[in-house]
Amino acid sequence: MSILARLCCCAAFQPSIVVVNGQKYKLQRLLGEGGSSFVYLVETPGNELLALKKTRCPFGSIGSISPAMKEVNNYKRFQSPYIVQLVDFQVCQEKDGSKTVYILLPYFSKGSLQDEINRHLLNCTEMPELDIVRLSVGMARGLLCIHEANVNDDADVTYSIVSAPYYEDASLLNDLELDTFGESQQSYAHRDLKPANVMVSPEGMPIISDLGSCTRALVEISSRQALLQLQEWRSEHCTSAFTAPEIVDVQLKSVITEKCDIWSLGCTIYAMCFGISPFEREEQISGASITYAITTGKYTTPPGTNRSPKLIDIIHKCLKVDPTERPSSGELLTLLMDLQGELVS
Ligand SMILES: Nc1ncnc2c1ncn2[C@@H]1O[C@H](COP(=O)(O)OP(=O)(O)O)[C@@H](O)[C@H]1O
Ligand SMILES: [Mg+2]
Repeated sequence: MSILARLCCCAAFQPSIVVVNGQKYKLQRLLGEGGSSFVYLVETPGNELLALKKTRCPFGSIGSISPAMKEVNNYKRFQSPYIVQLVDFQVCQEKDGSKTVYILLPYFSKGSLQDEINRHLLNCTEMPELDIVRLSVGMARGLLCIHEANVNDDADVTYSIVSAPYYEDASLLNDLELDTFGESQQSYAHRDLKPANVMVSPEGMPIISDLGSCTRALVEISSRQALLQLQEWRSEHCTSAFTAPEIVDVQLKSVITEKCDIWSLGCTIYAMCFGISPFEREEQISGASITYAITTGKYTTPPGTNRSPKLIDIIHKCLKVDPTERPSSGELLTLLMDLQGELVS
């Protein structure tokens, strides 16, 4: 069966048409794919273009759809021009017992920041420093919203399952939350920030996307079980080239915080400057394993770089192995805005 034919097995479909909550969308093409999802370009009858993220949950159980439902909740949770906003979603029961979660998002025709980096690599051009700083300011603003989210968890949505023989309560999904603590703590962390997870708006602004790994900021690794749980979660959700050392080499009795995103933003700024993650570059030039390079914080900048020392210094501040030495998203935003002020004056 073709991918498009398979996509169309939920609810009533014509070929190349997908229906989400009664609204028909025409499938145009595949935009991207990840571990468990496909993202398609779709068109409304009014010719509006949207992105449709389709996640197959093979077992159809609460545990199986929990990650996709958490992602839906996260899109609702954060209101910021720098974080992608949900258009619609639906959970579908398939005939084979599996479920499919459809998430409709705005379509960004410029693609992701990774596409932008790739364009520069292909054309042998460099991203202008002012663009790098402007994009970094936007990402820091988005992170500030996630890290300081003083929202309550009413964002958690309930949902109905189209053609489902029974109803499942979305609140049960909370049972599967990572081992988080601090009931009043409402701050979150994205945990998989990287250029491929940041879209570029028509105005050239960064839009933090793919909130599938976003969870409460504080995760206490208090037991061996919690350690194994985090290791398993990491292998499913995180991309090591941009992942912080405290997640790459998670330690018993440690606490993971939102500072992991500051590390990832440092790697992302570096990648905008030099076209590659700092630790991937280190692996390429020294042959050291990427895990060793990350956990020891070992990386260099290309010799003779014309990037400004202040921007390089901001990257260094983000890439401190000890998370407590990294700036907060608010402090980082101030540093970046100061630099932006200097560059435009
Ligand atoms: N709203 C969108 N507009 C345009 N392209 C998108 C959009 N969302 C995702 N993509 C493309 O699809 C890829 C995968 O999407 P993502 O949400 O990161 O899925 P996954 O969770 O599988 O990583 C992105 O890197 C990007 O290339
Ligand atoms: Mg992704």
